[in-house]
Amino acid sequence: MDTPRPFAPSPEPLDEDHDAAEHDGVGRPHAQVPEPAPLTEHGPARVIAVANQKGGVGKTTSTINLGAALAEYGRKVLLVDFDPQGALSVGLGVQAHELDTTIYNLLMEQNIDVDEVIRETGVEGMDLLPSNIDLSAAEVQLVTEVGREQSLGRAIKPVLDRYDVVLIDCQPSLGLLTINALACADQILIPLACEFFSLRGVALLMDTIDKVQQRLNPDLRILGILATMFDPRTLHTREVRQRVIEAFGDLVFESVINRTVRFPETTVAGEPITTWAPTSNGAEAYRLLAREVIAR
Ligand SMILES: Nc1ncnc2c1ncn2[C@@H]1O[C@H](COP(=O)(O)OP(=O)(O)OP(=O)(O)O)[C@@H](O)[C@H]1O
Ligand SMILES: [Mg+2]
Repeated sequence: MDTPRPFAPSPEPLDEDHDAAEHDGVGRPHAQVPEPAPLTEHGPARVIAVANQKGGVGKTTSTINLGAALAEYGRKVLLVDFDPQGALSVGLGVQAHELDTTIYNLLMEQNIDVDEVIRETGVEGMDLLPSNIDLSAAEVQLVTEVGREQSLGRAIKPVLDRYDVVLIDCQPSLGLLTINALACADQILIPLACEFFSLRGVALLMDTIDKVQQRLNPDLRILGILATMFDPRTLHTREVRQRVIEAFGDLVFESVINRTVRFPETTVAGEPITTWAPTSNGAEAYRLLAREVIAR
């Protein structure tokens, strides 16, 4: 690539576990997940909410990198930044705070065209609906609206035919914005960090999913649980992952995302790991995840 980069990728860190692509570190051999067949036509999109009210578990990182890996497999992808922090937008190199129109305008204004807000990203086949701090006002303003839980669904409906997958990056809360995401999603993907207390709060999340199924979206399904921040060198992190597998069985993806400095690097670089460090373990792990998502 000829474009100048803010800094060069660091050499492959020594702590990268190159075996992790074949083995998940807790004794479960990886099933072969087939290469997806190319698509000849696109849409209608499957909508996936990436959600966990716990902060810093890899929701945004997973949204960007799963999206980029799906795009590599020829899928047309729309990423929806549904966190007022705008980390997804920033992670793709968009100066979110400078934007005049964001998803906030789509939610709150009647006569705005979604195409005025959608932007292309540096990844071919992957577009972005950006957000910034304006979105935090929507959470308050929507409370008094009729059909407040369906605002996001209404906003993205016109473009669903154009995409194969829509990924919604949720904020770390179970408030109205996240409920909007769950109300319009077909499936939810739950990143779970392999750390003490990671399972705390999952019951509350499951409870919320149940309520959304009963009251707003009976078709909502859990797509899978993604173990993130996995450190293959520590017994503790392997134990946590083992407990997650005991608790959720086949819902747990084969793909495991290791803890590596590569991910914070990609945020600074403003591009996904699949292009920043294409042969890294992290890029391969998100490609495996993309194949699993397509196969499920
Ligand atoms: N596998 C990983 N290894 C190391 N660092 C990671 C990994 N995944 C994400 N990070 C870093 O951890 C921080 C939190 O990740 P991320 O923003 O994806 O989580 P999040 O769940 O979206 O957080 P929030 O709840 O605040 O929205 C970021 O600085 C990110 O670069
Ligand atoms: Mg986030």
